[in-house]
Amino acid sequence: MGSLESAKKTAAYKAVDEYVKNNTVIGIGSGSTIIYAVHRLVERMKEENLNVVCVPTSFQARQLILNNHLTLGDLETHPKLDCAIDGADEVDSDMNLIKGGGGCLLQEKIVASCADEFVIIADYTKSSQQLGEKYKKGIPIEVIPMAYVAIQKRIKGNYGGNIQVRMALAKAGPVITDNGNFILDWHFPQGLTNWNKINIEISMIPGVVETGLFIKMAKKVFFGMPDGSIKEQS
Ligand code: MLT
Repeated sequence: MGSLESAKKTAAYKAVDEYVKNNTVIGIGSGSTIIYAVHRLVERMKEENLNVVCVPTSFQARQLILNNHLTLGDLETHPKLDCAIDGADEVDSDMNLIKGGGGCLLQEKIVASCADEFVIIADYTKSSQQLGEKYKKGIPIEVIPMAYVAIQKRIKGNYGGNIQVRMALAKAGPVITDNGNFILDWHFPQGLTNWNKINIEISMIPGVVETGLFIKMAKKVFFGMPDGSIKEQS
């Protein structure tokens, strides 16, 4: 296993060991790092016979839960979660996150907002001082398809930068999210810092369903480091 994968695994194992307790409801995030968290959860289930309900944040997360024979829950039956564990594309020093590189930001944010504790697991390449330093694919914004051009114009006009519809790799056309929407990736200009205000303003544009800006939602971030250690941020 390369150092990046090993860093993801270290962070994921630490978060599951520290935050998953018996008789709890846990949000299962999406992306590449959460796979290791599910592996650790399965190990602990076998070792400790835990009673844990898992609420997915995407089709991928649901498949991970089902394929690993974990207990599947949802927000209808479990609207309050003890903890949600998820990856991130970038985490700045103020606990602002960019999420949605994997296209699952809407359900990830909903599930995180229902959890008492929201914990991020990531490798060392995701840690930055200011957003945009590390993740170069832009801030993902989930939008209603009929509004995508109007939203592109509004965001570009208000803040500048470039904003593109995310295109599918194995299909001629846009990525369609688990919720039937498009994703815009906004390559914002340098110098923007007031992410809370920007997030609120963008969220208010009609047709915007959700942004990949997670502002101070996470309680703790575990970064797996190249030397095998863990850096904690809160
Ligand atoms: C995302 O926010 O898109 C993912 O959770 C990041 C990841 O791959 O861990």
